[in-house]
Amino acid sequence: MYNRTEIASLLKNQPIGEKVTVMGWVRAFRNNQFIALHDGSDAGTLQIVVDPEKIAATITRRIGFHACIMVTGSFQSSQGAGQQFEILADTVEILGDNDLEKYPLQPKRQTMEFLRQKAHFRMRTQTFSAVFRIRHAVAFAVHKFYNDRGFYYLHAPIITGSDAEGAGEMFRVTMLSPDKPPLNDEGKVDFSKDFFGKATNLTVSGQLQGEIAALALGKIYTFGPTFRAENSNTPRHLAEFWMIEPEMAFYDIIDNMDLAEAFCKYLIAYVLEHNATDLAFLDQRLKEEEKSLPTDKRRELGLLEQLEFVVNNDFVRITYDEAVAILMQSKPYKKGQFEFPVEWGRDLQAEHERYLVEKEFKKPVIVRNYPKDIKAFYMRMNDDDKTVAAMDVLFPGIGEVIGGSQREERESVLIDRMEKSGIHPEEMDWYLDLRRFGGAPHSGFGLGFERMVQFITGMGNIRDVIPFPRTPGNAEF
Ligand code: 4AD
Ligand code: MG
Repeated sequence: MYNRTEIASLLKNQPIGEKVTVMGWVRAFRNNQFIALHDGSDAGTLQIVVDPEKIAATITRRIGFHACIMVTGSFQSSQGAGQQFEILADTVEILGDNDLEKYPLQPKRQTMEFLRQKAHFRMRTQTFSAVFRIRHAVAFAVHKFYNDRGFYYLHAPIITGSDAEGAGEMFRVTMLSPDKPPLNDEGKVDFSKDFFGKATNLTVSGQLQGEIAALALGKIYTFGPTFRAENSNTPRHLAEFWMIEPEMAFYDIIDNMDLAEAFCKYLIAYVLEHNATDLAFLDQRLKEEEKSLPTDKRRELGLLEQLEFVVNNDFVRITYDEAVAILMQSKPYKKGQFEFPVEWGRDLQAEHERYLVEKEFKKPVIVRNYPKDIKAFYMRMNDDDKTVAAMDVLFPGIGEVIGGSQREERESVLIDRMEKSGIHPEEMDWYLDLRRFGGAPHSGFGLGFERMVQFITGMGNIRDVIPFPRTPGNAEF
């Protein structure tokens, strides 16, 4: 058994004068004397002071960047500037050599694109260690938020026979031979011969199953992977991403928006409180990165300032009608600078959402009551017969982080909407049963987990907040 102590525990308990053993990776080695060691347990590094005379020169030379070492020595207050504590090493043992000649990561700034190709090493960089510690904290905070409010965690299935969003951008799950699939009388692939006896896909959303549970347990949330085969090569889209979907009986659209706002603020406040060192590092990183940008391209607020700002201010709430009116009055609209048209009945594009959030209000914005034709069949029809009780939460730099709605609980209205959306009601009999037998008003939404982590960490590309990104043409590792 290794008798070692984690760096986080040393920094917390501060056993001054005691002999301790630490294990970790070298982040820097200066003047043949000072090692900055990290072991992942804490955002910071621990300084190790080695006596070049006492520690064999051969070993000293091999303690390169990212080598893995074991150090035994006494834990001390540090006299030097820059760190509070250090270990005066008695022995240093190499656990894993690092051949600097061949190691792909040099101790210098790397591009994010390059690091993505080295996903097995990128996590060792300070930036990605910070991002993935924060990702963990956000996931933990998700569970804490809902657990503390009496919600139950529901595991929705990953393989499903239904298309919740009706968008048809699904990955097929099949055991049929791609070369010689069985065919039916019409010459089409006969999925009744497939593993599940029907066509199945990876889920695009756990919502429909969430509704089953909400109408039994009252308040539930799902938190799982979601898959979308949309060919979107943008800094905001992944083919495999994680979504949190709360679903609540007896919540209307206003209750739903209140929960969404409280949830976003809670996650951000949690990270501000628990990950201060990592956030400070990422804040500094962004400031460095922005130095090379022209002033008008820089962020108005630093990362920390922006997070504080979102936590401490009410989100703006407007209707889709108001959003369209604002956009039509906007400078970029009048000057023809938007790429996509603005017109009642069309969906808002990222550029429009960002205008509302970043230019008009400079705050997160919740837009509600969208035209029925651009939203999913399950959203509740408003009395105007033109809009549905949908809501999107829009964030600066990101655009849509949450999409949700009050659900259509009236059977006849729902059937009508299904038919108009090309969904066969008989294929979703179970979903209609929820309206037939003890139906209840209910609402819910989906938060894109990576988009929230992206906002909190300030990372420019969503691929850099998920350990192993899956995007069109890319499923390495
Ligand atoms: O707006 P969406 O499609 O909503 C639903 O799936 C509903 N069933 C949710 C519900 O009401 N229970 O997706 C929800 C959120 C989006 O707001 C966005 O943040 C994120 O999921 N999202 C993606 N994130 C990364 N990559 C993608 N391709 C994403 N597509 C959606
Ligand atoms: Mg959406």
